[in-house]
Amino acid sequence: MNFKRNIVITGGAGFIGSHVVRLFVNKYPDYKIVNLDKLTYAGNLTNLKDVEDRPNYKFVRMDICDFDSFLKLMQDEKIDGIIHLAAESHVDRSIKDPFTFAMTNVMGTLSLLQAAKQYWESLPEKYEGKRFYHISTDEVYGALEMTNPEGVEPPFTTTASSGKHHLAYGTDFFHETTKYNPHSPYSASKAGSDHFVRAFHDTYGMPTIVTNCSNNYGPYQFPEKLIPLFINNIRHRKPLPVYGKGENVRDWLYVVDHARAIDTIFHNGKVAETYNIGGFNEWKNIDIIRLVINTVDRLLGRAEGEDMNLITYVTDRMGHDMRYAIDSTKLQRELGWEPSLQFEEGIEKTVSWYLENQDWLDNITSGAYEKYYEDMYSKR
Ligand code: NAD
Ligand code: DAU
Repeated sequence: MNFKRNIVITGGAGFIGSHVVRLFVNKYPDYKIVNLDKLTYAGNLTNLKDVEDRPNYKFVRMDICDFDSFLKLMQDEKIDGIIHLAAESHVDRSIKDPFTFAMTNVMGTLSLLQAAKQYWESLPEKYEGKRFYHISTDEVYGALEMTNPEGVEPPFTTTASSGKHHLAYGTDFFHETTKYNPHSPYSASKAGSDHFVRAFHDTYGMPTIVTNCSNNYGPYQFPEKLIPLFINNIRHRKPLPVYGKGENVRDWLYVVDHARAIDTIFHNGKVAETYNIGGFNEWKNIDIIRLVINTVDRLLGRAEGEDMNLITYVTDRMGHDMRYAIDSTKLQRELGWEPSLQFEEGIEKTVSWYLENQDWLDNITSGAYEKYYEDMYSKR
């Protein structure tokens, strides 16, 4: 079958990638979607059980650092679009093992860029109709100050965020023009990859786009990240390790809204542009933790707030960024995207999903899923 487009989504077995793959496979039956993933500890193909048999979906286990294999894949599949999400993504792991982050995030991205350049430049039409879309993070901008610790109405409005909780904890925001100032090995490696992507546009004319998104939450997030980790711990009545005073602020976006933004930008974004993606939805960690405890307790039939005593203040994360807050006005104004959910609604959906899919959590926390892939792939 001839497809209208042949797109590789890297990191499609991970948290955000699996939502992007699902959206593209369902919404574009005339596109071939190749999910390229190494299946590290964070990759889990059960995230995509509902689309794995679709005729327009294909999974390839590959390391993004493997230049030769990726070049061959591009040639064999006639790839015209790359949506690049594969990365090492957890800040705490980067503090323990920065090398892996530099290797995957910087060298892996460079390897994809170089292979795409070689393949696309070999075609008669060259870069026409091609796109290299790199998914990055707000963490590359560094940290903002908490100039309004009590919270004030932010100077922005969106339909979705104009509901109950709508506070800013400072007067400054991350804009597309904000100077890069990464602090963690994770954010330094993402910044390095962003620079390489832009350099390939500026030097070779590759049609690239970069987006920088705020914290995502929702189904299929690996339970090392704040929200799924805490849902799982509350379920088992295990301590909830709150770093420092729990006052740090993050700007939270429902993962499906991020996937919707990626779809919009992949199709309608301007080449060489940067778009910030965020929900104008700042929360202090401790306020989220209380909301999650109340929600889990209620949905498990416990007394609301019964598990507040699990909150355990622990030593702060090294170099812990104080506040992130994205200004996504450009994306909203130029491309008409906006978040579809208020946070309280999103948290309710998210907690319900994890409690209805406890097997998914148990499969990960027991390590069973990794053993399954090792057995499956070692036989090939
Ligand atoms: P994740 O850790 O859940 O998934 C990463 C995926 O990449 C996994 O499936 C993993 O197997 C794969 N992978 C890792 N190394 C690989 C390699 N060498 N070759 C091929 N595949 C490899 O991450 P996520 O939270 O879904 O994040 C996806 C992307 O979005 C990352 O680039 C991240 O920096 C960015 N991002 C994440 C957030 C967030 O809140 N989670 C916010 C903004 C941007
Ligand atoms: O801002 C976007 C980034 O968001 C993404 O680029 C990263 O890939 C993603 O991991 C996320 O980074 P954070 O470090 O903000 O997410 P994390 O869930 O690890 O932590 C959220 C906040 O909660 C942070 O202030 C640290 C705190 N925390 C986290 C954990 C895991 C705790 O207090 N206790 C914990 O156990």
